[in-house]
Amino acid sequence: MGDDGQDGWSALAGEWSELWGAAAEPAQRALVAASGVGAGSRVLDVGCGSGEFLRLLTGLGAVASGIDPAPGMVAAARAAAPLADVRVGDAETLPWADGSFDVVTAVNALQFAEDTVGALEEFARVTVDGGFVAVANWAEGALNDLDLIEAAVAEADGEEPQPDGDLRLAGGLEQALADAGFRVVTAGVVEVPWLAADDATLLRGVLLGEDASVVRDLASVVLTAAQRFRSGGGYRLVNRYRFAVGRIER
Ligand SMILES: C[S@@+](CC[C@H](N)C(=O)[O-])C[C@H]1O[C@@H](n2cnc3c(N)ncnc32)[C@H](O)[C@@H]1O
Repeated sequence: MGDDGQDGWSALAGEWSELWGAAAEPAQRALVAASGVGAGSRVLDVGCGSGEFLRLLTGLGAVASGIDPAPGMVAAARAAAPLADVRVGDAETLPWADGSFDVVTAVNALQFAEDTVGALEEFARVTVDGGFVAVANWAEGALNDLDLIEAAVAEADGEEPQPDGDLRLAGGLEQALADAGFRVVTAGVVEVPWLAADDATLLRGVLLGEDASVVRDLASVVLTAAQRFRSGGGYRLVNRYRFAVGRIER
């Protein structure tokens, strides 16, 4: 990812944390359970964003480290998880020595690496023999309520809906782990519900990063498509992440 992308994520760090930061927690807990993270585990979270997973990890007594190319995200993560060692950098070049971690994780981040398998090989390098790499990202659109809203937005823009990338499809994460030399030990799908308390929050979350004029233009499209997800005074979207865990055996 180039400078524009990093600047983009940096500028969004506050809103990302507020609107989406908590959403991945069920996936984070699935990775923790599947890779046996506990007190004293040395864990690196790659693409740590605003640091919610790092906070969860340090709360469990793990020795947590994080890395993200966006300085704004790194600043947010340091504030969210003061006990964690958080550095600026990307998945493909990790500034840690070989075998530094028991577990390396990446949640909704691996898809941004330019070389997926190269990044996973770098995760392997910094993982101890017998350690785990645990990755999660959005499942295919058909499993996510958000997809229906995004499809309505694409139609309003006269665009085709975004196709699912390989990592979103069944078996995609497992294949990438296998290609990088891991033995896949488990994989699954986990619900990651997303709540918006009101119309304004829904619009800010769905159209995160868009200019105010775009938000104005698309507001009625988003609100109409979201009616079926009304819950209480707000909205509840049930989305899903896929996850997979690989073990490094040298
Ligand atoms: C969608 S956010 C997810 C953040 C966090 N993992 C979460 O689940 O809330 C994606 C993050 O990946 C980071 N990122 C982008 N390119 C990356 C790369 N090449 N290596 C590692 N992280 C990257 C972005 O800066 C951003 O913080």
